[in-house]
Amino acid sequence: MDIILFGPPGAGKGTQGTLLAERFRLPRLSTGDLLREAVRQGTSLGLEARRYMDAGELVPDEVILGLVREYLQTEGDEGVIFDGFPRTQAQARALDQLLEELGRRIGAVLVLEVPDENLVRRIAGRRSCPGCGAVFNVHFDPPTVQGKCDRCGAALVGRADDDEATVRRRLAVYRAQTAPLIEYYERAGTRLERVAGERPVDQVQHSLVELLSAPAAGAQ
Ligand code: AP5
Repeated sequence: MDIILFGPPGAGKGTQGTLLAERFRLPRLSTGDLLREAVRQGTSLGLEARRYMDAGELVPDEVILGLVREYLQTEGDEGVIFDGFPRTQAQARALDQLLEELGRRIGAVLVLEVPDENLVRRIAGRRSCPGCGAVFNVHFDPPTVQGKCDRCGAALVGRADDDEATVRRRLAVYRAQTAPLIEYYERAGTRLERVAGERPVDQVQHSLVELLSAPAAGAQ
């Protein structure tokens, strides 16, 4: 089962992808997480990627495709939940090709739809744990102790690209370069489901699980 979780910054791809990965026992491939790890480790790839990420721009396709190719060589034999990938037509075509070489194809593209004002509020409230990767939200899902991770107690931090100006740029880049992939998949006849993502996390998850468990059902 190869699934693409699709949607603008802050739509909940990471949140829902983590839950789906547990539920269906599949690995989640977040290109954003891979890039942030490379930045944290200070690798040359990380140093190159950081310039784009801090500006709210997309990292070049060849860098991303190198990461995804490497990942698929060792992980995800049973399928992958792709989070934040693909983001351009070149990436989408390359993923089709890579999966075809493995005798697989995209099972579904799940599009999380959330109004812009809600996205900006979510992103402004996001706090991540540098220790274990847990994600909280000061508005919607605050940690029990302010500023501390519930799981490992580390001090929570904001993401470098979550300031308002960069978020607005990320939203614009999503609309210009990534949203057109919806048409790409519709034209290709790939199953594409739109899900109302502004609801509470458990309700969104319920809809996604229902869709993936009953392929014929089209309800949200
Ligand atoms: P990436 O890390 O992929 O960021 P993004 O797509 O901008 O998405 P976010 O991580 O901001 O949001 P999300 O949809 O995962 O939401 P989340 O679940 O965290 O990419 C970062 C950068 O890396 C890009 O800008 C680009 O530079 C580069 N990059 C990555 N992939 C690339 C690619 N393929 N090609 C080129 N460049 C690439 O939720 C957000 C917040 O809301 C959290 O606090 C969460 O707790 C909260 N929340 C989630 N769901 C709900 C809900 N239902 N109700 C209330 N709050 C909620």
